[in-house]
Amino acid sequence: MNSAQPWWKSCVAYQIYPRSFCDTTGNGVGDLEGIRRHLDYLAWLGVDALWLSPFYKSPMADYGYDVADYCDVDPLFGTLDDFDKLLADAHRRNLRVIIDWVPNHTSDQHPWFIESRSSRDNPKRNWYWWRDPKGDGPPNNWIASFTFGPAWEFDESTQQYYLHTFLPQQPDLNWHNPEVVAAMHETLHFWLDRGVDGFRMDVIHLIGKDPELGDDPPDLAPLSHVPLNHRPETHELLRDIRLLLDSYDRDRMAVGEVYLLDTSLVATYYGHGDELHLNFNFPPLYTPWDAALWRQQIEKAEQELGPIDAWPTWVLSNHDNKRHRTRYGGSESRARAAAVLLLTLRGTPFLYAGEELGLEDCVVPPERVLDPGGRDGCRAPIPWDGSPSHGWASADPWLPWPPEPDKRNVADLTEDPESILHLYRRLIAARKASAALAVGSIELLDGPDVVLAYRRYAPGDNDRFVLINFSQAPTSAPVDLTGPAVVEIASDGEGEGAPFTGVLAPEQAVVLRRC
Ligand code: NOJ
Repeated sequence: MNSAQPWWKSCVAYQIYPRSFCDTTGNGVGDLEGIRRHLDYLAWLGVDALWLSPFYKSPMADYGYDVADYCDVDPLFGTLDDFDKLLADAHRRNLRVIIDWVPNHTSDQHPWFIESRSSRDNPKRNWYWWRDPKGDGPPNNWIASFTFGPAWEFDESTQQYYLHTFLPQQPDLNWHNPEVVAAMHETLHFWLDRGVDGFRMDVIHLIGKDPELGDDPPDLAPLSHVPLNHRPETHELLRDIRLLLDSYDRDRMAVGEVYLLDTSLVATYYGHGDELHLNFNFPPLYTPWDAALWRQQIEKAEQELGPIDAWPTWVLSNHDNKRHRTRYGGSESRARAAAVLLLTLRGTPFLYAGEELGLEDCVVPPERVLDPGGRDGCRAPIPWDGSPSHGWASADPWLPWPPEPDKRNVADLTEDPESILHLYRRLIAARKASAALAVGSIELLDGPDVVLAYRRYAPGDNDRFVLINFSQAPTSAPVDLTGPAVVEIASDGEGEGAPFTGVLAPEQAVVLRRC
């Protein structure tokens, strides 16, 4: 099935934050070998592609998103050899591997920046954005993410400011300099030649900048500059990156983190099929658990992406945001309904490791807070079993365990066919077995206000109907919405294989197969 479609359309992707996955060395931090040892679990779950957050050499000011060497592994995570083993073992199980690529900024400890800051006439000076002060202050009013102070740091020794859209330890690269473009293209070749299947491109919409570095509109300036930077220069750079990827023999893929909070802008990063294959669309991630609001997000994605033949992506959780179960109020039934939503929409779903266990954020006491962006909670370690160290080589990992690790862990939930883990597995399997669910069209249906209802259909496959009850009361969803249909999957497992009765339990979601 689906062989005519590129793999990245029909795939289910799974994000791994390496620090939090599994530690095999006893230092409390997850590593590449920890991922390799759990590939059988991921294959059993049924996901097709892994996205690994950064494991590059890094001083870890932003936990790896401050890269000091794009072509090496930080000793905390292992070695290049460990990466090669992981990649080969993943491929042996038909799991693709996409890695994070952080093109907008390096670490201030990257040799390029060390050279660049060494003097005004250093050949690498222009690899970053250096500017004279404007009056007594920074060159413009841009605001940095995390600190919400000026996006400029003054360098005493050379008496100029450098730009950092994130932390001062993350200076922005100057992609308007062809030498930077060439050097960064080399880093892509390095990993493509090693065999990776693609990249998740960190804040890719930031690489092109206004050459004049003009002020942000004063009424928006209290925001960070990140969601305001939308430039034609970026699109030109992306077309070259696409050509580079397309020069490889296999179907390599790039998914862009386009942190522009408007789907119509996100749509432009697909180009005319000549920029990025996929892009993250964040407005749905920030949408509360509400049937009408979700309906609007789906409509918007269809309106903006459908006509230009751009394939959507869907994400509910990642390493930058509270886990969706926590955001949606903590109930497991809601987390189960959300799983049905995520895995039945038209587009590529990206799961975040641990959501299949129904994990919530960990509680981080003040003395254990680490992240400058306040994102520790969703980065809690994954519990693999009910033992005191939960399958980690150390009982005391870098962040506290998420709630209930004694019960809510991979080993225990694998044993329980009624667990949320098995629901994820059934949904992924159903998606794989159905062209309608994997790559078919979507039609939103009218129904009761609290029910989100849609049809998925593709030639040669039975129509699927997805009904999600957002309310905490039983709700009838008239059978004439769907015609005679069998419950293929129910978020609570009830009635699977039986004809649909027309009533949804509180917070229940079902996938129906038309007879
Ligand atoms: C987005 C990444 O997802 C986030 O974790 C990181 O802090 C910023 N980009 C800066 O690289």
